[in-house]
Amino acid sequence: MDHFHLHDGVLHAEDVPLDRLAEAVGTPFYCYSAATITRHARVFRQGLAELIDPLLAYAVKANPNLSVIRLLAREGYGADVVSEGEMRRALAAGVPAERIIFSGVGKTAGEMAAALAAGVGQVNVESEAELQALSALATQMGRVARVALRVNPDVDARTHAKIATGKSENKFGIPADRIVALWAEGAALPGIAMQGLAVHIGSQIAELAPMERAFERLGALIADVRAAGHRVETVDLGGGLGIPYDPALPAPPAPDAYGAMVARVTRGWGVRLVFEPGRLIVGNAGVLVARVVRVKEGASRRFVVLDAGMNDLIRPTLYGVFHDIRAVVPRPGREVASFVGPVCESGDSFAEDRATTPLVAGDLVALMTAGAYGATMASTYNSRPLVPEVLVNGSLWAVVRPRQTYEELIGADRIAPWLEERE
Ligand code: LLP
Repeated sequence: MDHFHLHDGVLHAEDVPLDRLAEAVGTPFYCYSAATITRHARVFRQGLAELIDPLLAYAVKANPNLSVIRLLAREGYGADVVSEGEMRRALAAGVPAERIIFSGVGKTAGEMAAALAAGVGQVNVESEAELQALSALATQMGRVARVALRVNPDVDARTHAKIATGKSENKFGIPADRIVALWAEGAALPGIAMQGLAVHIGSQIAELAPMERAFERLGALIADVRAAGHRVETVDLGGGLGIPYDPALPAPPAPDAYGAMVARVTRGWGVRLVFEPGRLIVGNAGVLVARVVRVKEGASRRFVVLDAGMNDLIRPTLYGVFHDIRAVVPRPGREVASFVGPVCESGDSFAEDRATTPLVAGDLVALMTAGAYGATMASTYNSRPLVPEVLVNGSLWAVVRPRQTYEELIGADRIAPWLEERE
């Protein structure tokens, strides 16, 4: 469910027509619907209603805009962060430190120190070496790190290989058979308070069965750790629940089905559960609006060339995935075309041979379901400035990130002193 709909022949974000926004801010731009974000945040929480006081930690990587994080903080969400930058964003947006989970396979000493100084609620540790480094730092700083061990459950999430994280060959997590020993080591280390286990097997997961298998393995591990005489207080079940991208395909399981599965599998665990949803909260809440620069008849194909490129939305290029493309002011009829950007790579393509309503130069299109892993994965490749982000709330809208100026883009560089011109 989202709040992008046709009204009087024009695609709107809530009550705001996207063509009006395009006039005001120029194209391309990202547009987010606050009502959709709030709705998804509540639907997810509602799906987990059977659980006692779960911590919902929004995965900031999906969309790190401060307004988006603040909106979710107001809904009681914490934050799952994987870098100092994401942690600083979460804090700046008003997420209390105790609701921040610091994840990631390559936390640097600087990042661990920053997490300790901020007093984050949990650090998800991914190796023995990391645990030892964290202990040394915490001791030095006179702090205590609250730690969960991220387990690699060796489960295939059956999603795109580049975003699967739970198989033994993936870089993430600690093999299950090392968990009890590592917990004991952590419990004996200074500056470490062992509190839980964590798992995250991948993203855009379309079936519950792999997650259920992973959670069951965690359940067995809780018993093993407790049998060794330790207290397990939190279990972090990660994010990963998929969302619909292609309206022609069946939708992934809804949050209530996920919640029912979680309630069933975790019954009797006696822990506080943590969740790290990203895409589910913001994916359908955003679109990338672009203008048709021109329509080009190739030898074998018709190309609709947009002013947005792979640098603005890289998902189709990087993963070969589907994003629906809709005309902002649709004309009657159907036409097939390939949708490409202006970047100098053949991979700069959003869709091949896609049927849409007919389009001509100057028309606006919306690339749907771009709220997650859209703007956040953008780059300035081809020296294209980062595009603005707009947040709509009913009939209100605000630019929550202005378009990068050419001065900002180019002015960030420095001419090496020996290349500076002499008078
Ligand atoms: N927790 C951890 C530890 C993660 O690594 C991730 C995502 C999440 C939570 C949130 O997962 P979500 O609920 O959003 O599925 N760029 C890719 C997605 C990469 C996901 C990385 N980790 C894409 O565009 O599909």
